[in-house]
Amino acid sequence: MINFSTDGPFYNDIESRGYTVIPNALNKELIADLMADCYRINPHFSHAGIGRLNHLQIDDNIRKDKTYWFDGSSQAQLTYLAVMESIRTMLNRTFFMGLFDYECHYAKYTHGDFYKKHVDAFKGRSNRVFTSVLYLNTPNEGGELVIYKPKSKVVEVSISPEAGTLVLFESERFVHEVLPAVDNRYSIAGWFRKNASISGIVDPPR
Ligand code: OGA
Ligand code: MN
Repeated sequence: MINFSTDGPFYNDIESRGYTVIPNALNKELIADLMADCYRINPHFSHAGIGRLNHLQIDDNIRKDKTYWFDGSSQAQLTYLAVMESIRTMLNRTFFMGLFDYECHYAKYTHGDFYKKHVDAFKGRSNRVFTSVLYLNTPNEGGELVIYKPKSKVVEVSISPEAGTLVLFESERFVHEVLPAVDNRYSIAGWFRKNASISGIVDPPR
C-alpha cells in the first residue's frame, strides 16, 4: 500500500529539514477509491472552521475550503487510516516521536477557495505534532501549497497538488498557505498527535 521506505529521502528529509514531499506515495487504486468516496459524500462537506470541536469560528477571511472529518463510513477511509497507522509507527520507530493517534478530514477547494498563512499547531497549545496532506486529484492550475522557511517570509517550497503526492511536515515549525484554487482540488489533511494535557485536561482523541 505504501510505495516508500523509511530509509533514503523520507528519513533524510525529515531528519534534516522537518518535512518531506513524496510523489506517488500510495497505490493508485487507493487514491481512486478515496476520490470516489469524496464524490459520494460531496453534499455533506461543510464549511471549514478554525479551531476544534465546539470552538469553531467560521472565518471566510482566513479559509474558504470545505471539509468532511473521517467517520469510517467507507472501506477507502478505513484503508487510509490503516496506512496512516503504519506511517505513525514508522515515525515513532525512526524518530521516537511518541505519536499517539491520528485524525484527518477530506478537504475540497473549489474555484477561488484558499487557506491563508497559518500554523497547524501552537507551541504548548495543541497536541498536533506532524501534519500530513495527501492529494487526491491533479488540478491543472491553482491551489499550490506554499511552505515558508521557519521564522521567515522566504518560501521554502511550493507544491503543486498531484494525485498521490503525500506531504509530511512538523506542525509547529512551518507557516504555510494554500493559494486560491482554480480547478477543484481534493485532499486529505491529517494530524499525528501526541497525548498532551492542556490545562490539566487530557485532550481526547476524536
Ligand atoms: C490544512 C492545510 C494544506 C493543503 O488543512 O491545514 O494546510 O495543501 N492544508 O491542503
Ligand atoms: Mn495547515
